[in-house]
Amino acid sequence: MELTNSYKRIVFVFIGGIMLFVLCGCQSTNYPVDFEQLSEEERIVIRFSHVVGEETPKGLAARKFAQLVKERSGGYVEVQVFPNGFLYKDGEEMEALSNGDVQMIAPATSKVTSLIPEWSVIDLPFAFNSIEEVHDYLAGPVGQELVSKFDSQGLLMLGMWDNGFKQLSNRDYLIRYPEDLQQLKMRIMPSDIIDKQFSIAGAVPMKIDFNVVFQHLENGDIDGQENTLSNITSKNLHLLQNYLTVSNHGYLGYTLLMNKQFWDELPEDVQVLITDTLVEVNEWEWETARKLNDEKLMELEDCHCIDIYHLTSEERQVWEEAFQPVYNYYIKRFGAKYVKSLPKFQENSTYE
Ligand code: SIN
Repeated sequence: MELTNSYKRIVFVFIGGIMLFVLCGCQSTNYPVDFEQLSEEERIVIRFSHVVGEETPKGLAARKFAQLVKERSGGYVEVQVFPNGFLYKDGEEMEALSNGDVQMIAPATSKVTSLIPEWSVIDLPFAFNSIEEVHDYLAGPVGQELVSKFDSQGLLMLGMWDNGFKQLSNRDYLIRYPEDLQQLKMRIMPSDIIDKQFSIAGAVPMKIDFNVVFQHLENGDIDGQENTLSNITSKNLHLLQNYLTVSNHGYLGYTLLMNKQFWDELPEDVQVLITDTLVEVNEWEWETARKLNDEKLMELEDCHCIDIYHLTSEERQVWEEAFQPVYNYYIKRFGAKYVKSLPKFQENSTYE
């Protein structure tokens, strides 16, 4: 598969950064010859916890990563994947990683904002026009500053995995304009910027764990929600909602994080194995995320089980104007630097 420029750049930046750690003097260890006989204590076990289903972009990529690492190390390095919040739920996984109870997680960028609030720049509504713009932003100087903020938290960011753009769904009527959100109880991820976005539109944002959104919709505690199509369908949320607005109003992607102390203690050849494998898996994940969201849109169109509406560019314009105060709110808290570097504010922007 031919690498896009954006992909080459982001891989270069992430892997280049990681290789600095690799070259910092960790001792090289060759894999034991008879690793099959080793107990779990003698092998290298990486526990990878996440909160979504296995048939989502993140779930599939985590599994692929585990499978390739196992094959390539002959079983000496084992990535154990725990999906669906089985080990740790939304609010718990970051602490579990910091404590070393798990070694890898891939939280949505919105969820790392409790630790590093500047990351909420990614949550700004209509900040990006395409996934490539997100990748370019993160590979650029300001994006890399955000990435390096994990260091002081004892974490290492090994890459960025996509899900896609979020869409809006609601039980009772179609959402076409911001004012349609008034009084609606909307489930959101824990991010002040997302909270602000819905509050400004007059909705009642409710921070709820991903794994219990279905129950809350079923009980009628919430009226609607925002998410990517692969996430919505993976939890059958569309079966409890009558209207879907394809708004592409915000990006949902994942920071692939490892406990830094664990990483530093890995033998050099295992670090190389992990970084090399991730070059391949990251690209595969991007492609899979794109395909899966496209497929899910077609499936939803075919099933006639939910009313689907695509925002027009005029309507999108109305949303953007209505959400301008969210940008002001971000700038007031964190300064203009992160916002000014967004592609929509660049001279050669393709933003509509
Ligand atoms: C995820 O994709 O990891 C979950 C996103 C959400 O909480 O909506």
